[in-house]
Amino acid sequence: MPRVFAHRGMSSLAPENTLAAFRLCREHGVRWFECDVDVLADGTVILTHDTTFDRCTNTTGGYYHLEKSDLEKIDAGSWFGDEFIGERIPTLDDLFALMEELDLSVNIEIKSRENTAHSLITNLAQGIKQSGLNKQKRIIVSSFDCALVAEFKKICDVPVGCIFDINTLADDWAATMKWVDATYVNPSNNGLKREHVDMFKKEGYGVNVWTVNELDRANQLFNWGVDGIFTDVAQKFPSRYKFLLKTEQN
Ligand code: G3P
Ligand code: MG
Repeated sequence: MPRVFAHRGMSSLAPENTLAAFRLCREHGVRWFECDVDVLADGTVILTHDTTFDRCTNTTGGYYHLEKSDLEKIDAGSWFGDEFIGERIPTLDDLFALMEELDLSVNIEIKSRENTAHSLITNLAQGIKQSGLNKQKRIIVSSFDCALVAEFKKICDVPVGCIFDINTLADDWAATMKWVDATYVNPSNNGLKREHVDMFKKEGYGVNVWTVNELDRANQLFNWGVDGIFTDVAQKFPSRYKFLLKTEQN
């Protein structure tokens, strides 16, 4: 059964990559969501898409010099709406606690930056193992940086995916997938054709496409055999793709 992932949480209804955005998944019956992770100076894994806080908080600048306690002063919700004033940038521990509480599942995207990548994957792997959620098949980890995914896979037993821009897909993509020991290909929606999907499925990979915000395009992709799509508008999708309102084991 095809899957809808709420991209950065319910990111058209709440500030992206916040607990508020993930909580709304429960309300809308969406079991699976996507989030982006990076790491602070003290090794705390945080949920954020960008390399600076400029776009999605009330402050500016990078965060690689910050520690966990610094997050208490930063508001990640007031830019989006009054009801989100006081929303914090979540840590990995916050994320896992909420997933336990609401019975959610996640595709975690590793944001790879040269100097912090090792700290990020080490602390991410440790957090995942401590959570035990990997044993319940509720976590997928992916990245554009396939070498980093390969490194991560060696230290943490979870299904992993390689994210590709389909317009620049390398000829040796299949060799990369094997080397990484990946379960999923995550291709861009932009430029994706039926031949690509056939090619990925022929090699036996799960295919999760980003970012699909139109219902008819999602339907087309699912009819081609795509396994999942990441969307900013998960609330618009029928319940059969979302799983919390049904009994499927997904
Ligand atoms: O994980 C799929 C998608 O999120 C990749 O792009 O920039 O939205 O993190 P981006
Ligand atoms: Mg992402």
